[in-house]
Amino acid sequence: MWPEDRPVPRERLLAEACACDGLIVLLSDRVDEAVLGAGRGRLRVVANYAVGHENVDVEAARRLGIAVCNTPDVLTEATADLAFALMLAAARRIPESERLVRAGRWAGGFSPALLLGVPIAGRVLGVVGAGRIGRAVLARGRGFGMDLRYASRRPLAPEDAAAAGARFRPLDDLLAESDFVSLHVPLTPATRHLVSRERLARMKPTAVLVNTSRGPVVDEEALAEALAAGRLHAAGLDVFEREPAVHPRLLALENAVLTPHIGSATHAARAEMARLCCEGVDAVLAGRRPANLVGD
Ligand code: DGY
Repeated sequence: MWPEDRPVPRERLLAEACACDGLIVLLSDRVDEAVLGAGRGRLRVVANYAVGHENVDVEAARRLGIAVCNTPDVLTEATADLAFALMLAAARRIPESERLVRAGRWAGGFSPALLLGVPIAGRVLGVVGAGRIGRAVLARGRGFGMDLRYASRRPLAPEDAAAAGARFRPLDDLLAESDFVSLHVPLTPATRHLVSRERLARMKPTAVLVNTSRGPVVDEEALAEALAAGRLHAAGLDVFEREPAVHPRLLALENAVLTPHIGSATHAARAEMARLCCEGVDAVLAGRRPANLVGD
């Protein structure tokens, strides 16, 4: 049990893993072959308190016969809500407005040109990654009267695309056409800096980029430059390349809305994530098949 509000130090994780049959870990814990093999065959299951699992060496776990579980579904709506909240906040400059009011800098009362943002209804929402969370964001976009498009490795099955009400577009076209781009891909070697400097340059200067997936999916340095130069209207970011560090240029920008990786942070979602982790460990140790086996 690690009660502190900072990641478990590496030596401690290695030392504790020796004596465990099951481990429940966070995204900030690097569960590599050394951790998996620390107990010399004792460890039987790792439950990751997240749906993403790039922190766990799933291939090494498979070789060592260790089951890996995650927490899909229960955080879908919470994460989609946060993506949409960031989108609205960035489009309508809500944090910047709030800072102005709190600082006593709202001097002129109602003013026709004060803090103008970009509209949502009728605008193009491009979702990158059409998994559960991406589709939940599209559903919210439908409610806001947006024109829905998505990019993914493969187009959705026709019935799923019809249900989502969204058109498939190649990624580069999606970026060029969208007024709002929301990222919902896992972090893999193929998605690292998927939103590169070159791809950021394809986006409209009035566009808003939202990232609730993983920080390294976006080239943060290039994003900060684009925002500072006015080549992008705004960004809403819940994830960062080197969490908990945030690029200093982003910290200084009014048009970057920043939250500390809270996509799934509702009481309900976090309780369900904990339940799934416990059930996963319990199932494996009792010789049953866990519900959310990664790499199944
Ligand atoms: C995940 O589940 O992958 C999130 O980033 C944490 O909820």
